[in-house]
Amino acid sequence: MNAIEQLKGYRDEIERSNPTTLEELEQFRIRFLGSKNILKPLFSEIKNIPPEHRRPFGQEINAVKELAEVKYETLKSSLSQLEQQNSVKEMDLSRPGYPFELGSRHPISLVMNKIIDIFSRIGFSIAENREIEDEWHNFTALNTPDDHPAKDMTDTYYIKNDWTHILRSQTSTVQVHVMENQKPPIRIISPGRVYRNETVSARSHCQFHQVEGLYIDENVSFVDLKKTLLYFAREMYGSQARIRLRPSYFPFTEPSAEMDVYWGLETEADYRITKGTGWLEIMGCGMVDPNVLAKCGIDPDQYSVFAFGKGIEQKTMLIFGIIDIR
Ligand code: DAH
Repeated sequence: MNAIEQLKGYRDEIERSNPTTLEELEQFRIRFLGSKNILKPLFSEIKNIPPEHRRPFGQEINAVKELAEVKYETLKSSLSQLEQQNSVKEMDLSRPGYPFELGSRHPISLVMNKIIDIFSRIGFSIAENREIEDEWHNFTALNTPDDHPAKDMTDTYYIKNDWTHILRSQTSTVQVHVMENQKPPIRIISPGRVYRNETVSARSHCQFHQVEGLYIDENVSFVDLKKTLLYFAREMYGSQARIRLRPSYFPFTEPSAEMDVYWGLETEADYRITKGTGWLEIMGCGMVDPNVLAKCGIDPDQYSVFAFGKGIEQKTMLIFGIIDIR
């Protein structure tokens, strides 16, 4: 048999061959495409072929090789798919599954949940509201004068081309919604995200979390506020925790105070964290201004109200030893 007939025989064989498993396909590959494939020796036959037939013969070897390649690639993908399906059929569905790796809670959620838990034990329920807010709920209803620096675009994010809606800069907005829509007595805490136009650094971010508290009833007094905050501090920081209230100012409370917890002054870090005082600032609080109550539809002659609000990030960083907020 001469080389030309041999080549024709290989072409027929490739066309007829029908591997039905990946293993048979591998045999096909080795025979026609492997490093010692049977087409190779035909190239050295070229010199024995009459000169006018050499060129078409060489071209035919390449064409046969290409045919083998195309057939191989096509069969490979369909056979792999088939075998995969078969192995699924053979899968033992009664075998125990691989255990999923559970994630862990974010430090912010842990602290937030603890605060929610502490207040829910004394009858506070959760109230949430929108993050895109109007100026009324974020500023006006909360007694913030129009020329207050917090309203400046350098402090608060305004919605572009609208300029009357903002990303809320405090969760005190929820107080307003609650007072507008519920009848006293009201006891709520409001966890949520807030936004301020601040330069992001290791210590502060333009987006952070706050928890707001609000208690409305007849005869609610500053003593109730102080007792509630002391209870909170002891649940949060240990039964020996001590607090102090310093006079402060917020537009929507009168009187206003800042609550500190005694942290201690033992290490150098304590000096840094407490700015040398031993006391750690925890939250703002006060008796809600009668003006605010009236604006929100609560009768200031019948009801009195205390409120408090605190940021979550800084304390979380302290508790978890996180040095960069980012
Ligand atoms: N909203 C205040 C802030 O973002 C925090 C605050 C202070 C909330 C006093 C209150 C409060 O409810 O009574 O700085």
